[in-house]
Amino acid sequence: MSPSRTPVKELSGNGKLVYGCDYNPEQWDSGTWQEDVRLMKQAGVNLVAINIFGWAELEGSPGEYSFDRLDEILDLLHANNIGVNLGTGTSSTPAWLTTLYPEILPQSASGTRAWPGGRQAWCPSSPQYREHALRLVDEMVRRYGAHPAVRLWHVSNELGCHNALCYCDVSAAAFRGWLVARYGTLDSLNQAWGTTFWSQRYSAWEQILPPRTTISTNNPTQVLDFHRFSSDELLGYYQAEADVLRQQSTVPVTTNFMVTAHIRNLDYWSWAPHMDVIANDHYLDHRLDAPTTELAFAADATRGLAQGLPWLLMEHSTSAVNWQPRNIAKRPGEMLRNSLAHVARGADGLCFFQWRASVQGSEKFHSAMLPHAGTDSRIWREVLELGGILETLAEVAGTTVQAEAALVFSWEAWWAHDQESHPSSDVRYLDQVHAMYAALWQAGITVDIVAPGADLSGYKLAVVPGLYLVRESESAVLANYVTKGGTAVVTYFSGIVDENEKVLTGGYPGAFRSVLGIRSEEFYPLPPGQSLTLDNGSTASLWTEAMRLEGAEAMATFTEGHLAGTAAVTRNRHGAGDAWYVGTVLDPAGLREVVTEAARASGITVLASPHGLEVVVRSGADSNYVFLINHSDEEHKYAAHGHELIVGEDVSHAVVIPAGAVRVVRTPNPVPHTTGLSTGPKG
Ligand code: GLA
Repeated sequence: MSPSRTPVKELSGNGKLVYGCDYNPEQWDSGTWQEDVRLMKQAGVNLVAINIFGWAELEGSPGEYSFDRLDEILDLLHANNIGVNLGTGTSSTPAWLTTLYPEILPQSASGTRAWPGGRQAWCPSSPQYREHALRLVDEMVRRYGAHPAVRLWHVSNELGCHNALCYCDVSAAAFRGWLVARYGTLDSLNQAWGTTFWSQRYSAWEQILPPRTTISTNNPTQVLDFHRFSSDELLGYYQAEADVLRQQSTVPVTTNFMVTAHIRNLDYWSWAPHMDVIANDHYLDHRLDAPTTELAFAADATRGLAQGLPWLLMEHSTSAVNWQPRNIAKRPGEMLRNSLAHVARGADGLCFFQWRASVQGSEKFHSAMLPHAGTDSRIWREVLELGGILETLAEVAGTTVQAEAALVFSWEAWWAHDQESHPSSDVRYLDQVHAMYAALWQAGITVDIVAPGADLSGYKLAVVPGLYLVRESESAVLANYVTKGGTAVVTYFSGIVDENEKVLTGGYPGAFRSVLGIRSEEFYPLPPGQSLTLDNGSTASLWTEAMRLEGAEAMATFTEGHLAGTAAVTRNRHGAGDAWYVGTVLDPAGLREVVTEAARASGITVLASPHGLEVVVRSGADSNYVFLINHSDEEHKYAAHGHELIVGEDVSHAVVIPAGAVRVVRTPNPVPHTTGLSTGPKG
């Protein structure tokens, strides 16, 4: 556990917001380095991540180190007052290592070993990998632990991006060790895993394997425990590197998280306490319906991991990435909106992957701060503009975001919810989370993302999407919160199993039945494309269930199908509070209505529809900063008074936010009554 968090603004070297990038000088000659540093200064870059993939350069053959070029680049950056986020360099193995020890290469569930040639091809449990990697880390910290340029240690890179789940024999042995520590006895493991089913009982620890490919389905608790183990195993590896660093250096240590839609293998709630700085990488995912809303969710979740304090965006992109089926370039102004959405939601620094676009390798079509086109380009002009705006917004550093609503999010529930052999493979955890988050986003409600069991007492509204797996202690927190006057909205397929994937019987949703005042006997998933109408005009799809009211009132009922006349959405007065249940997949407008009504009833002021205007407030001791991000094609105005920082003008009644633009208004703290959303486009 890290003793204390390092304020992100300290990493800029001047107490302002961090502006930076990944920099891969090994791809360029030293003449280019001079130009790079000159342009970095022009852009206002104050922190660069280097040596992320440096291992093969530094240790050309076993035990033979050559640090000359890294020395030179560190000194050059330092001489130009640019701080370094120093990679330990262990992310990708050199060819000699996997040639010497092919057993380092990870193995898939079906037994295929990965070949070298890509990146991150190492088994998280491999002793050979760990020994060699920690030896490099030791060399690094002895050489650079007190170098004045170094402001942050960057352990490995995106741990678990490709190698989170390894099924090799070494991993199997480590998994067994983890299980012994968790269960103590085989009897208790057999009970937790329900191994009486399908004759799966174990009579010796050696019989237990990772959930490798079977000819039918795996044991769900084994799969869940393998996820837990794999997350812990990589965290253990992070800690091993961090220990080596902390023994010889006082520079803060972190790694870059991937709180983003397509990565789910690490339970960052358990990782976060071990970081000196919470850092995230985020890329817009155009495979999603609403990439910008997902960005906001990821940023809020990262703030949750930072326990509300400012965090660092370690990577995002100036424009297109290279790893989606179609890599969509950002439109003019989109990079600024994306960047300031992160800042609005608590980031005290923005870094890009990467500084200069590569000309070789598989990422050569990934955008960068300095594109192939050079400085006579839209991207470069926008990079300069953003650098200037971050300078203008310096006073925002250190302020925090206040939210009246919380969304309970769980990586464990995600692993469990999306397992095979469930009522419907069309119903996915993250879809539930995103749908609920989008409803709140559209209603203009700022949300904190919290872990199951977190204290909810400071929130007016708590939403719980798809929390399929929940511990008794965690459901008790929600029940207690409602009893004491809180408002909760729980959605379908929540509260179904305990931490061992064991169904809570007596009617669904077992863990939340009493607080919700309902009881469901059976689930009736619908095929994609089919929808049912509710009496309030909303439509329901994909998921329905036969619900009986046990104290709750129906807020919407099915008008057709064999569940016609039964409840789809309910509300239950419980103690001094209110608990809503959404027992189907509502259309977005229908869900927004439910959430808005629950929010209003909870005492949250829900203002008129924002029409694509994202409004988030960061608060400091004397001032609030109202971030207004206009994602729409229409001009908006927003009632406020204070001083607008980006354009630099006083605001007496309202600020105008042109289509696609961002404005940040400093207002006295607390926000005066005149502040609020407009009812629509200016006019
Ligand atoms: C990740 C990695 C980077 C780079 C980017 C590309 O975030 O950390 O090294 O590969 O993706 O988007």
